[in-house]
Amino acid sequence: MSAARILDGKGLADRLRAELADEVVRWRSATGVMPGLGVILVGSEPASAVYVRNKRKAAQAAGFSDIIVEMKATATQDEIAEAIDQLNDDHTIHGILVQLPLPRHLDSESLLRRIRPDKDADGFHPVNMGLLALGTPSLVPCTPLGVRELLIREKIETKGKRAVVLGRSNIVGKPMALLLMAKGPGGDATVTVAHTASQDLPGLCREADILVVAAGQPELVKGSWIKPGAVVIDVGIHRRADGTLCGDVDFVEASQVASAITPVPGGVGPLTVAMLLRNTFEAAKKLVEPNR
Ligand code: GUN
Repeated sequence: MSAARILDGKGLADRLRAELADEVVRWRSATGVMPGLGVILVGSEPASAVYVRNKRKAAQAAGFSDIIVEMKATATQDEIAEAIDQLNDDHTIHGILVQLPLPRHLDSESLLRRIRPDKDADGFHPVNMGLLALGTPSLVPCTPLGVRELLIREKIETKGKRAVVLGRSNIVGKPMALLLMAKGPGGDATVTVAHTASQDLPGLCREADILVVAAGQPELVKGSWIKPGAVVIDVGIHRRADGTLCGDVDFVEASQVASAITPVPGGVGPLTVAMLLRNTFEAAKKLVEPNR
């Protein structure tokens, strides 16, 4: 028996994508421009290939054009930099992303810095991370943005609440903490960032009214780590030995304790893709109509 409300990220993502597709139809007829997404995929890691395929399908369904640049796992730093420069200079492309992780011989950081900040669909460029940290966000990383949208649309109060983010990555943990502590809807929380070096992770997590888990470890968070009635957002996704998927949270246990919880799959993942499209469209609007 599951006591917690299941937060349907997939359903929300479908609605967000439908809303966006309507807006894109109107914008295309007003401007004559199609929003364009450019994706660089290096190597053939199966998970990355699936993610990129999903992003492409979602982009096409929303009325975007797309360019997928597939490069060999042995591609050099310079070759990838060249591919980024081409997308930077391509007037049909408004949002660019380099699918991560990149093969180990490459310097991801310097490649992410090469993307024009105003086309940075993932919001990973130092300029965009800096603007977020300063409270004047422009393009914001998609997964945290999706989590905030879910909290707002599900009317989960964050103001004045204790939020714990488990994980300190640049992709999720860090920007998630910045959004939760920002002023305004989905923010105004008292935020703790916990990570692998934190002492007493279970105790820290038990302080959370809102627990966002992006730890990258299958079913790390147990029911006993959760304050009764807390809201649990599970950003992880892993494939078990038997082929089924699970998150960073032990869903069976956690759903007995939490008041609301995201499932895996069907929770945060689809929202990330919806926010990628939203970011690309926002970038397109600024690039095409800079004075509006
Ligand atoms: N790999 C895992 N998550 C992400 C993401 O949000 N963006 C990109 N580019 N790669 C990822």
